[in-house]
Amino acid sequence: MRVDEKPIYEGTFTVTGGNFDNAGEVSSNIKSVLKRMGLSRDVVRKASLVAYESEINIVSYARKGMIRLRVVPESILIEAIDEGQGIADIELAMQPGYSTATDKIREMGFGAGMGLCNIKSFSDTFLISSEVGKGTYLKMIIKTNNRSLNS
Ligand SMILES: Nc1ncnc2c1ncn2[C@@H]1O[C@H](COP(=O)(O)OP(=O)(O)OP(=O)(O)O)[C@@H](O)[C@H]1O
Ligand SMILES: [Mg+2]
Repeated sequence: MRVDEKPIYEGTFTVTGGNFDNAGEVSSNIKSVLKRMGLSRDVVRKASLVAYESEINIVSYARKGMIRLRVVPESILIEAIDEGQGIADIELAMQPGYSTATDKIREMGFGAGMGLCNIKSFSDTFLISSEVGKGTYLKMIIKTNNRSLNS
């Protein structure tokens, strides 16, 4: 993705930690935006999953955060940025099945420990960094395989 490239879409969505009542709303909005662009179903599905898992993690483990969406003809960039507890051992957190989810989170149906590893496998580029006590940053790029898009 070229930095100087004019995006077809650019938006920032805020996510509130602990707010399970609205969990999934941001990724649902992101999905609607992407659907309107004439992207392939597979690409929309991948980007929506990545946004959804990132959003649920912010709700579950952070104080507050945001998801940034930037679409250019060749790719979709999704960034999840939060302020919160951070992740001490990223390699461990990435392991399928690893979860620190509380009972409350599990009651909501989350906590299988599959979010981060699914985000990685659905992304063409995946980057994660985190600082304990500060927050976590995820960067995902999904290729659109499109030459031209309806804006
Ligand atoms: N944004 C975040 N801030 C702090 N810790 C996080 C964050 N995202 C993930 N983690 C930590 O990494 C672990 C693994 O995350 P992952 O999304 O893979 O699984 P999960 O959220 O526990 O369960 P699932 O996503 O399957 O519902 C979490 O249990 C949590 O300890
Ligand atoms: Mg998760």
